[in-house]
Amino acid sequence: MSKAQAVFVCQSCGMTHTKWAGQCSGCLSWNTLVQESFSAPPGSLKPETSPSKISRLSKLNFETLDAPDEAPQRMVTGIEEFDRVCGGGIVPGSAILLAGDPGVGKSTLLLQVTAHAALRGLKVAYISGEEAVEQVRGRASRMGVSKAPVDLAAETSLRTILDALKRDTYDLVIIDSIQTLWSDAIDAAQGSVSQVRACAGELVRLAKKNRIAMILVGHVTKEGQIAGPRVVEHMVDAVLSFEGERGYPFRILRGSKNRFGATDEIGVFEMGDGGLREVPNPSALFLGDNDERSSGSAVFAGIEGSRPVLVEIQALVAPSALGTPRRAVVGWDSGRLAMILAVLESRCGLGFGGKDVYLNVAGGLKINEPAADLAAAMALVSALLDRPLPKASVIFGEISLSGEVRGVSRMEARMKEALKLGFSNAIAPVAAQDNAPFEVKTYSHLVNAMSAFDLQS
Ligand code: TYD
Ligand code: MG
Repeated sequence: MSKAQAVFVCQSCGMTHTKWAGQCSGCLSWNTLVQESFSAPPGSLKPETSPSKISRLSKLNFETLDAPDEAPQRMVTGIEEFDRVCGGGIVPGSAILLAGDPGVGKSTLLLQVTAHAALRGLKVAYISGEEAVEQVRGRASRMGVSKAPVDLAAETSLRTILDALKRDTYDLVIIDSIQTLWSDAIDAAQGSVSQVRACAGELVRLAKKNRIAMILVGHVTKEGQIAGPRVVEHMVDAVLSFEGERGYPFRILRGSKNRFGATDEIGVFEMGDGGLREVPNPSALFLGDNDERSSGSAVFAGIEGSRPVLVEIQALVAPSALGTPRRAVVGWDSGRLAMILAVLESRCGLGFGGKDVYLNVAGGLKINEPAADLAAAMALVSALLDRPLPKASVIFGEISLSGEVRGVSRMEARMKEALKLGFSNAIAPVAAQDNAPFEVKTYSHLVNAMSAFDLQS
């Protein structure tokens, strides 16, 4: 092994520096540089001097784009919400990172996935670095899956794990979590960037070589980043995040990177006494219970992945005691809220100055679609004027900086879902008029949409 050399590694972005500094020049975060000794990873290129050796080694064979075999075969685990987010099942030999806050239910989900996969005849191993075997067993029996033929181990040494995985032929292996592993080849603390990077690298290499599908659990820091290295995100084929708001039983599995499928699918689960339950039709879930909508509440007809989902957006506008009024938003983008408020103020002449504004997406869902603009704007205006929106209406549409209401994707699917759930009209962009299954109030500009408040039924 080459002589170990001291380097300073940023614990936030993984950038290496030769000297210590207060601020990382890569991600600009403060006090994140930690000294770690670095030695070249096994198998990395050593300088070659002899030209004859170089010509012998550097043989690169090009291939054609036209692949001889078809799309990768997928292993279906039987947990449909999970399979769909993976792109229709797990691809053999792929490496997946599952990230999420502590306690959100990552271990519960993966135990359920492995148990179902094992019952379907796949050879699976669950290696826990965080919990003792008894704890995992206890959870399995509470979830009613203790009879599944899963190979269970509690281990944190990378060398031991690699040896065990090489001895047998596994289809699917879970490592819970990557931050608890340590490699004796690296002189750094457990959970540090160097350790995590080296362990993930070795595991991904083995996954590719032996065609083992590998799911690595990664913790998320307070700031919402996958603790330590973003580098792990680059190494794996798919990054899934498991999200949920505290106090809500709903958990959402979302793909943020997937080399084998789309990234906009979500899987919805409900955490209960017997583990996670799949929610195949999430629409009704994010709507409040009461039929009578009060002021400040609007129902957005959204699309999550391939499925339409109806969500309640709630707004509150209150006089502010502060010099700079509060703008608080849960489940939506705060920049987007600022934009909508600016459009309402400058294009529609509504005054939000001197008022605190709160916007909340019910049920703990996070909305990323610009199609929610109109629903958010209507909720805000409804709260400001203290007038409820027309009953049984769903709202969708994007708002431009000029205040124009624009068409969005899959409008017919959104309205059909609303019809199924008992809604009888929509407030929407002009283009929604075609093929509408019910009455649609269309508006080309946000100013005109204000007249929706006069349509009381
Ligand atoms: P866990 O899977 O341990 O979270 P993570 O691995 O992401 O840290 O989930 C822990 C939480 O899930 C804990 O707060 C209890 C809750 N839970 C249930 O509500 N019901 C159950 O059946 C199980 C197994 C866990
Ligand atoms: Mg866990």
